[in-house]
Amino acid sequence: MAYPYQIKSLEEYQENYKQSVMDPEGFWANVADHFYWRRKWDKVLEWNFKDPDVKWFTGGKLNITENCLDRHLGTLGNRPAIIWEPNDPEERHRVITYRDLYNKVCQFANVLKNNGVKKGDRICIYMGMIPELAIAVLACARIGAIHSVVFGGFSAQSIADRIQDAQASLVITCDGAFRGNKDIPLKSVIDDALMGCPSVKKVIVCTRTRTPVSMIKGRDLWWEDEIKQVETMGNPPCSAEEMDAEDMLFILYTSGSTGKPKGVVHTCGGYMVYANYTFVNTFQYQPGEVYFCTADVGWITGHSYIIYGPLSAGATTLMFEGVPTYPDAGRLWSIVDKYRVNILYTAPTAIRSLMGYGLGPVNHKDLSSLKKLGSVGEPINEEAWHWFKDHIGKGRCPIVDTWWQTETGGIMITPIAGVTKEKPGYATLPLPGIQPILVDENGKEVTGNNVNGNLCIKFPWPGMLRTTYGDHERCRTTYFATYENLYFTGDGCLRDEDGYYRITGRVDDVLNVSGHRIGTAEVENAINMHAGVVESAVVGYPHDIKGQGIYAYVITERQTHDPELTKKDILQTVSRIIGPIAKPDKIQFVSGLPKTRSGKIMRRILRKIAEGELDNLGDTSTLLDPVVVDEIKKGRL
Ligand code: WTA
Repeated sequence: MAYPYQIKSLEEYQENYKQSVMDPEGFWANVADHFYWRRKWDKVLEWNFKDPDVKWFTGGKLNITENCLDRHLGTLGNRPAIIWEPNDPEERHRVITYRDLYNKVCQFANVLKNNGVKKGDRICIYMGMIPELAIAVLACARIGAIHSVVFGGFSAQSIADRIQDAQASLVITCDGAFRGNKDIPLKSVIDDALMGCPSVKKVIVCTRTRTPVSMIKGRDLWWEDEIKQVETMGNPPCSAEEMDAEDMLFILYTSGSTGKPKGVVHTCGGYMVYANYTFVNTFQYQPGEVYFCTADVGWITGHSYIIYGPLSAGATTLMFEGVPTYPDAGRLWSIVDKYRVNILYTAPTAIRSLMGYGLGPVNHKDLSSLKKLGSVGEPINEEAWHWFKDHIGKGRCPIVDTWWQTETGGIMITPIAGVTKEKPGYATLPLPGIQPILVDENGKEVTGNNVNGNLCIKFPWPGMLRTTYGDHERCRTTYFATYENLYFTGDGCLRDEDGYYRITGRVDDVLNVSGHRIGTAEVENAINMHAGVVESAVVGYPHDIKGQGIYAYVITERQTHDPELTKKDILQTVSRIIGPIAKPDKIQFVSGLPKTRSGKIMRRILRKIAEGELDNLGDTSTLLDPVVVDEIKKGRL
């Protein structure tokens, strides 16, 4: 596959950027022209950020799986689409060619059809990182069902919330998932979740761990049995459902500063074009290269850069079931060595944790195949950046520090590997098509260089979210109401003397723990569910490996006799309500919280205390009860 829209030089970048601002519709039509459309669009873009109402490629008809699979069969049919590395390095790996993948997707799409799934139905997918997860995702897209993938680390309660919000009718899961030395009982978690989910009529269970599961008659089906049925039907083909460019492709739930996670909605046409364009450009993908993204498909990075971006580009994408530290801290490097990986895309938290093991696990691994490195999910500190550059890239691989969000669908601000300049700690420059702007608290544009502000985007791009599922008003207020006519990212940002962007972190109450987005309000609600807890306040603090840790201040009804046990109980509660990823790192019992006279918790003060900046608390005189601050300072963990 050739990529005529791949930017190959700095001059081309500048030219493209200029054109994308002067004539955005012409720019994106040029890119979109290189896809397979059943019917071309009538209009490239219609939009306003007020409602918001954004439509790309209206009138266009397509199916994203025809772009990820069918169109490659003629030329790339025998090329590996997915290389799968199991959790246990002793187990056999799998190589799935484009033709195999096409067949498997059609087969499973027929399974879904046999079970009554129709275009527009919502399907919840809760699986480990096995090829069947990618197959399930693509099979939904093939028949126009809307997938909602839920990360395997979320609790039954979190799954139930997501299923109810989307009114999903079918769940696809596994008996269990292997992750490191753990065996996560996915089906049993689903059983708990489904007790409160009458919308779900069927559950399809794929065998992976052979953990005993209870199969409910009339509801639960084995993946393998269902496939056999399709085989006895003679494996009929499964033609792709013709989708409108603006039909929903998927929902992905993500945390915000208030309330329950919201279902970010992406649509077929724009998302496809954007995931592909950003993949091909950022990583400068060349045909035949082996590309390895270490994310989980449960997050947006896995959607866009394990599945849709690479497959739509005919790339070879490596999918890894396990974790970087199992069976030892050299696992990622062994995988690079084993498959001659050319592009490695990972997260700062993984790099920082592996740095801690020294160079032993890196030595004697052949990393000479690596050509390009990428980082995503959180700001990368300079130390980690240099370690990645020197010890993994051996000084010869460009690093792309890619800034983007679940809501943006794909990479927004990033160096282009080997084409534009990189700078440690900086996401550097926007891709052509992206128009960032910094504003102050009043929404006034901050112009010039060497400035700080809140990061907004002032013009639509094809991969942007269209709505939050079932609640458009929430989409409007969260992203489009803070600053008039701008999409607000929730991130703080500085633009340096050269005009390079550096993301400084969230300016709202969203935490980024090991690259996972968690709302402080969500954690507080979970803690408050625990019997005996009166109130809590959660803030983030700098954590060497996770980037941010979770610090919880908790008021209990009575003084606890065994604080350690109570802490464990609270952790267990948070695990149950949200999932283990949201467990606080520190819990401090307090008798009160610093509040304004109107009853608002002064998080700024709590944050400062958690960060250890005890002498720099600012004005506390407006507090209802200033004494409580001293108590909290004294009890700091
Ligand atoms: C943060 C992940 C600094 C940011 C793709 C954003 C980053 C949030 C970077 C989105 C980066 C992501 N540098 N910060 N390169 N990439 N972030 O939705 O705060 O899980 O708003 O999407 O992660 O997280 P999400």
